[in-house]
Amino acid sequence: MDEGTDEAQPSVARRAAERRVTAPGLRARKAKGEKIVMVTVYDYPSALLAEQAGVDCLLVGDSVATTVQGHSNTLPVTLDEMIYHVRMVRRGTNRALLIADFPFGSYQTGADEAIRSAVRLMKEGGAEAVKLEGGSPVFESVRRMTEAGIPVMGHLGLTPQSVNLLGGHKVQGRDDASAERMLADALGLQEAGAFALILETIPASLAASITAALAIPTVGIGAGAECDGQVQVWHDLLGLFPGKTFRHAKQYAQLGLAAEAALRSYSDEVRQGRFPTKEQDF
Ligand code: KIV
Repeated sequence: MDEGTDEAQPSVARRAAERRVTAPGLRARKAKGEKIVMVTVYDYPSALLAEQAGVDCLLVGDSVATTVQGHSNTLPVTLDEMIYHVRMVRRGTNRALLIADFPFGSYQTGADEAIRSAVRLMKEGGAEAVKLEGGSPVFESVRRMTEAGIPVMGHLGLTPQSVNLLGGHKVQGRDDASAERMLADALGLQEAGAFALILETIPASLAASITAALAIPTVGIGAGAECDGQVQVWHDLLGLFPGKTFRHAKQYAQLGLAAEAALRSYSDEVRQGRFPTKEQDF
């Protein structure tokens, strides 16, 4: 038996490897009509929870700038900061595909810069794939990264790094011309080698047409139910910011309120001398 092949792996390890979600595996899922579940995560405990819940893909999104760092948009987060978060997520990830977002300013000058940034996200962070925003201006970068062995996910529609150009976080692809451009961009990204596409905040009918036209899967956020999968932002999904709701998101829990109530109980008990008790004594 050749020690360098999968044949040499003990069967438990081989079976674990077979269960892992991979970039090419996502394309096979689309062909079988199996939905893809993706969530953004930014640290070790959230990665563990998402893994235990059976989520397929963990995206360390540049939304970390707004959800964790407290900025008003995604532009300020740096490549070093993204790598720091990807590393934490890596330690909690086992079966899911770990995708790292390129932050603004880490790929816009061209393919060489994109490859350098992707290599850092993969070597230093442990990402298995990368994601960038945009259409035709990034085709060459997607092609060159794919040729270099880097799985790349595209992102069309509302691309938050272009918020200043778009004039805000607005629905995209509403008129015929921009819808046609988006479909052409989606086909171009597929042709360049992208293994999947995020479609963000576009009409559901346009997302359905793009999804039908592609062999690679689409993962939607605010893009209707016809996408091949869905992605949600961790803090929106779990209701971590009480009172902050978005039309594209659904709160499956109100953890922000639960955390606030727990912290209030703790504060009351400390102030009233009810915590700690003998139970916590040594
Ligand atoms: O950064 C992010 O969280 C994203 C998702 C919204 C797709 O790009």
